[in-house]
Amino acid sequence: MSEKILVTGGTGYIGSHTVVELIQQGYEVEILDNLFNSKITVLDKIEKLTGVKPKFYKVDMLDMPAMEKVFAENTYDAVIHFAGLKAVGESVEQPLRYYENNVTGTINLLKCMKEHGTKKIIFSSSATVYGDQGVEELNEEMTTGVGVTNPYGWTKAMIEQIMKDVALADPEFEVVLLRYFNPVGAHPSGLLGEDPNDKPNNLMPIVMKVATGEIPELSVFGDDYDTPDGTCIRDYIHVIDLAKGHIAAIRGLKPGVEIYNLGSGKGTSVLEMIAAFDKASGKKLPYKIVGRRAGDLAAMWANPGKAERELGWKTELTIDDAMRDTLNYLDSHSDV
Ligand code: NAD
Ligand code: UFG
Repeated sequence: MSEKILVTGGTGYIGSHTVVELIQQGYEVEILDNLFNSKITVLDKIEKLTGVKPKFYKVDMLDMPAMEKVFAENTYDAVIHFAGLKAVGESVEQPLRYYENNVTGTINLLKCMKEHGTKKIIFSSSATVYGDQGVEELNEEMTTGVGVTNPYGWTKAMIEQIMKDVALADPEFEVVLLRYFNPVGAHPSGLLGEDPNDKPNNLMPIVMKVATGEIPELSVFGDDYDTPDGTCIRDYIHVIDLAKGHIAAIRGLKPGVEIYNLGSGKGTSVLEMIAAFDKASGKKLPYKIVGRRAGDLAAMWANPGKAERELGWKTELTIDDAMRDTLNYLDSHSDV
């Protein structure tokens, strides 16, 4: 019998791509999301791609009775936990909302899991938990939490700690903490991609809005960093590679807690990202250099060696693939 997985945040950007991979790998998937930052129509797109429309619960993780009901009605083998708020700047302005949604929401989920005997979980953490290490290449052995600059990042660091403590108290728990670097790209079909309900904050969603003319030009935050072209360097990972990382993580679950970076191991500057987008589109993206953004580090990328050694996972797609798929997604959604 196939394993039954609950995916929280499964209609969101990374969640929806992961749901498609899960179904294609033969897992039975159910989705829980409050649709705060995603659309119900994603379910039809998942069905188009896989032939399966997953059962959907429009439930807020803060609504404990509704959460309880979902777990009372089902027996899940594992949970993949994407649901959360993710806008760094907004988290600085509304810290209590972020701590409540992300931390309390996760505690509610873990309580339901424990109560109903689901003891396997994969959590969407972030490279932001590394803070400023003073080095560019980040590995899982490093101390985290030091130098985290915003409440969003703290929610990730706190949830990691909560999950470690839960697994310590109950040796049957199997936890994988996945530290994502910078997810980009879209499904090659053009059906799924990043489609935030609100104002975008990250580089690629903003690039997409510049490409469609909704935003006149991209502001590049600083060209005076100590990097070859002066702009910040990040490790961009195609969302399909990221989705596949979750399949590898499920297969690698074992009692206790394991932590894996999901990144390519390569750094790309903001200007290199713009050049790659220009190459894919055949046009020049309008941009201007502005001042640095508070809290940005000059350069960081993953050491992805542990995921390759232990899970047999590594990235296969490139920045050029991500740009092609992003443009394809934009073309397919030019009517909306
Ligand atoms: P997303 O906003 O597209 O998806 C998150 C989903 O969670 C949304 O569909 C939203 O409606 C849902 N949600 C939020 N709060 C909820 C609640 N209280 N109850 C039920 N559903 C709720 O974001 P994404 O980019 O797909 O990110 C998924 C996860 O990965 C998040 O936890 C995010 O913090 C983490 N992450 C993302 C990035 C990134 O750059 N995209 C980087 C590192 C980590
Ligand atoms: N950038 C610009 N202009 C913009 C937006 C971004 O120049 O309008 C630059 C940033 O300065 C940075 C790079 O593009 O150098 C990437 O910025 P993002 O905001 O897309 O990503 P960050 O690396 O700042 O942070 C992201 C997520 C966090 C996550 C972190 C590490 O936003 O949630 O990666 O995983 F924690």
